[in-house]
Amino acid sequence: MKKKPSTFDSQALPPEVRPGQSVELLKQLHILTRDGKLNQDSRRKLKQVYHLFQFIEKLLLELPASDQGPTLADHGAGKSYLGFIIYDLFFKALGQGTIYGIETRSELVESSRQLAERLGFERMRFLNVSVAESTQSTELPEQIDVVTALHACDTATDDAIAFGLQKKAKYMVLVPCCQAELARALNQHKALNLQRTPLAELWRHPLHTREVGSQLTNVLRCLYLESQGYAVTVTELVGWEHSMKNELILAKYTGQKKRSAAERLQALLKEFGLETLLSHRYPALNGVSA
Ligand SMILES: C[S@@+](CC[C@H](N)C(=O)[O-])C[C@H]1O[C@@H](n2cnc3c(N)ncnc32)[C@H](O)[C@@H]1O
Repeated sequence: MKKKPSTFDSQALPPEVRPGQSVELLKQLHILTRDGKLNQDSRRKLKQVYHLFQFIEKLLLELPASDQGPTLADHGAGKSYLGFIIYDLFFKALGQGTIYGIETRSELVESSRQLAERLGFERMRFLNVSVAESTQSTELPEQIDVVTALHACDTATDDAIAFGLQKKAKYMVLVPCCQAELARALNQHKALNLQRTPLAELWRHPLHTREVGSQLTNVLRCLYLESQGYAVTVTELVGWEHSMKNELILAKYTGQKKRSAAERLQALLKEFGLETLLSHRYPALNGVSA
């Protein structure tokens, strides 16, 4: 009688699966099917995940050695697939360092905790708090090396930047989602701005308000980071071309605070009639004159 395979046969793993990589994790992420196969879709998904991982791995390798190992906080973690992949491919073999997943949906936090326990990923922590609240959490260390926020909703990316600044992050890796706050503020003064400046034509129509709002939000985020001592690169998250939101903002701490960036940021707020955002979104610039 033909033996029915009860467990997964590691010999049959597709070549894309790396030695030592957790098969159970890949199944949980729906990258591998239950019988350990890759289909066309999941092959593409795995390629994307590797691409993002390779990107973050380079940053982790650049960190100076420390006793406790690297720390990484992933904001708006969702199912924490990014954290899990980074842990599996980097932190697991390193034997030190901790990954923190921050997520407001309690059921996702709970399922991530259970999965980490099942996989034996001991140095993963999941906090059921908002990004803004996490800044005050006593469960997080004073300093965090790498901050990631992949499609964290709305202003969660801004909160992640505030978190990174407070935690003196050496790197921030941000792939923003839609942000409505700025578009709302543009809308509020639309009539006035249409009289005041021809630039307001850029956000006269609702669809343009959203697009300009989104673009401007990211421009302001970059300037803010530069004003706080980060060198910023903006690029595309290659392989994510199916997603509308594939702008990748990479910030590396250099300690050189650019005054010109602070000035430009404030000048832009003024030009677009958005001065009300200064105090709560860019608090480090309060008192810095443009
Ligand atoms: C679009 S999902 C992205 C999940 C994951 N980063 C990914 O790329 O697969 C956004 C996640 O952020 C969470 N979220 C939204 N706002 C948040 C906030 N202010 N603090 C913490 N989590 C938040 C949502 O519950 C959701 O799980």
